[in-house]
Amino acid sequence: MQTVSSSNRKEAPIWVMDSGVGGISVLREAARLMPDEQFVFFGDSVHAPYGTKTTEEVRELTLEAVADAEKRYHPKAFVIACNTATTAAVKVMRGLYPGRAIVGIEPALKPAADAGRRHILVLATPLTIKEEKFRALLQRFSDGREVIPLGCPGLMEYAESGQLDGPETDAFVADMIGEYVGKVDAVVLGCTHYPFLRGPIARALKLSDDAVYDGGYGTAKHIRFLLGETGLLRDDDAYERAALNDAAGSAFYGASEAEVPGERMARSACSTVSGETLITDAWLDNHVIFENSLPGAAGADRIALCRRLMK
Ligand code: DGL
Repeated sequence: MQTVSSSNRKEAPIWVMDSGVGGISVLREAARLMPDEQFVFFGDSVHAPYGTKTTEEVRELTLEAVADAEKRYHPKAFVIACNTATTAAVKVMRGLYPGRAIVGIEPALKPAADAGRRHILVLATPLTIKEEKFRALLQRFSDGREVIPLGCPGLMEYAESGQLDGPETDAFVADMIGEYVGKVDAVVLGCTHYPFLRGPIARALKLSDDAVYDGGYGTAKHIRFLLGETGLLRDDDAYERAALNDAAGSAFYGASEAEVPGERMARSACSTVSGETLITDAWLDNHVIFENSLPGAAGADRIALCRRLMK
């Protein structure tokens, strides 16, 4: 097993995976926070959805993708930008790749709870909801508040097929969650595909945008923190600058698998740090490799969708 140590490891890419295009909601935040880094994004669309499979199936698919990435890129970080795959495989991965930077994602209940939300709907895949890891998360945050978990089979497909808006998407979403209108004051998007359906979800629940929480940004910060800690960020100063700004900020936004010690910053504070969107076509071409498990034209279509979702 290799460990992260030598300085030339800085140049290695950060590998990000999801069952499909959903992980782009994490990747785009990471790319904005770390514009000097190289990313490889793998979307396993041929096997999507993961959320209606068994834990064992998802674990096997994830570990296969990770082993392939290790062989081809030897990345400096593995990011499992999929709540479902994190639940199924991250623990095993930590045993298989000791010493490596491994980042998973979990539903962003913490920022919703920290913001004082009292009635929180958590949307996730059926597999995420039924796993022990999720139960433990619920337990941690259910004190004094109502947290309602809802498995959403069929929802990720709207993001996966690029149907992000429109009457059909609105109708599907409203049918799935409409009964919670007026009963919740926040919604947590516990699947990385759902941030792409943020508009329809907020509309269906009649909630404002700031009552919708996802873990993309928190996860991106966690990646930067881990790489900074081990001296693996390409731009060392980015870590220093982030630490300074974090100290000045107020609340940790988003959630990644492990809470980031010492990292506390409001999202609004961040946009003044990372500034403008750095994701242009030229930047994408130089900094992100998109890979997809779908063959031929279908794969090419999916990569076109990935590029669209980055913006
Ligand atoms: N994007 C994935 C997640 O975050 C799951 C979607 C799926 O494949 O079911 O859970």
